[in-house]
Amino acid sequence: MKVHFGISRIELVQGDIAQQQVDAIVNAANAQLAGGGGVDGAIHRAAGPTVMEETRTRYPLGCPTGDAVATGAGKLTVKFLFHAVGPIWRGGREQEADLLRSAHRRSLQFAAKHDCASIAFPALSTGAYRFPVDLAAENALDETRTFLLTHPDPLIVRFVLFDAGTYAAFARVLDGFIQ
Ligand code: APR
Repeated sequence: MKVHFGISRIELVQGDIAQQQVDAIVNAANAQLAGGGGVDGAIHRAAGPTVMEETRTRYPLGCPTGDAVATGAGKLTVKFLFHAVGPIWRGGREQEADLLRSAHRRSLQFAAKHDCASIAFPALSTGAYRFPVDLAAENALDETRTFLLTHPDPLIVRFVLFDAGTYAAFARVLDGFIQ
């Protein structure tokens, strides 16, 4: 599914984030930048050890929740990895939605700063961090739409959803934007 916002667009695909041919891939990292399973595991496995070496050297203090840091991409053919830290879901009263929006915004700002024409996001926080998928889709897509409508250069933002249920949740929200 593809929807245009001004000169830019949002795409939804079902697949593996580590296989995307884009300028930048967003990793679902933790605040320690310590690596893990899910998206984090898939990206580090595909990229090789240089990425973890770079995060350790350049960001020894990790990355706060709601923020992101940039590294090279090792063996991946993309130009950059942006390691974004989404919030752990704690029931919705600890600014989780704002923090999820901020993790997207920071990654999009990095894409702009590094002149990326395309960027791929996973469904941040919806796996190990247990953020409800419908609410995550609403916040991720609305924050991205807001960014694209004010960003002066064309940018393709692809959400790469692993399973059919997550794809359907994102598709429902994106569909709602064009009704
Ligand atoms: N490609 C795309 N999406 C994937 C992939 C993949 N290869 N693997 C898993 N997913 C999906 C999950 O099904 C989920 O919908 O990505 C979404 C995010 O899941 P997680 O990777 O668990 O990310 P998150 O919920 O943000 O938790 C981050 O998990 O791996 C650790 O180090 C990471 O501590 C951090 C935490």
